Amino acid sequence: MTFMELAKNRYSERFFDPRPVEQEKLDQILEAGRIVPTACNYQPQRFYVLRSPEALAKAKTVTPFHYNAPLMLLVCYDAETVWRNPQDRYYRNYNSGEQDASIAATTMMYEAEELGVHSVWLRGFDSKTVADTFDLPENIIPVMIFAMGYPSDSAKPNAWHFKRMPLENFVTEL
Ligand SMILES: Cc1cc2nc3c(=O)[nH]c(=O)nc-3n(C[C@H](O)[C@H](O)[C@H](O)COP(=O)(O)O)c2cc1C
Repeated sequence: MTFMELAKNRYSERFFDPRPVEQEKLDQILEAGRIVPTACNYQPQRFYVLRSPEALAKAKTVTPFHYNAPLMLLVCYDAETVWRNPQDRYYRNYNSGEQDASIAATTMMYEAEELGVHSVWLRGFDSKTVADTFDLPENIIPVMIFAMGYPSDSAKPNAWHFKRMPLENFVTEL
């Protein structure tokens, strides 16, 4: 499968089979998140694996969008490690943490897809609630959560998946 085929096949999975994701596949997904580019190569991305009944029960209290997935990954960045640009005149106290963590998350999402593990990217949560629920150190900033796993028999994309604006909406040549 080409990368473009993989990218076009991916959709946000909201119907998961309870079957656990094998450790080797999880390792490969996490490895994909390890090797990504990051600002100044500071590597501030941090991943928390949520798959024990206790961790998944906590995850269900922080977001309604868990879709009963057997595996969730909480993707964060370390604010003490992140690249900063306090001189940026547009973004006050700019730091690259969301970008670094999002590159890692995106890469893991496509690696999972290649392995047949579906996912949905979640941001429907309160960051402070997530930090408190999982007792994250103060320097660890939640960015996103994946619900992940194998698709159930009834799995299918929802209508939004098929709604994409034409390329000219996104591209301007300057
Ligand atoms: C930054 C971001 C936040 C998202 N948050 C949620 C969420 O909280 N709950 C959810 O069900 N889907 C969430 N999604 C999934 C989007 O709704 C989905 O990607 C979009 O509708 C396109 O559909 P597709 O991924 O199936 O192509 C999020 C996606 C992104 C990129």
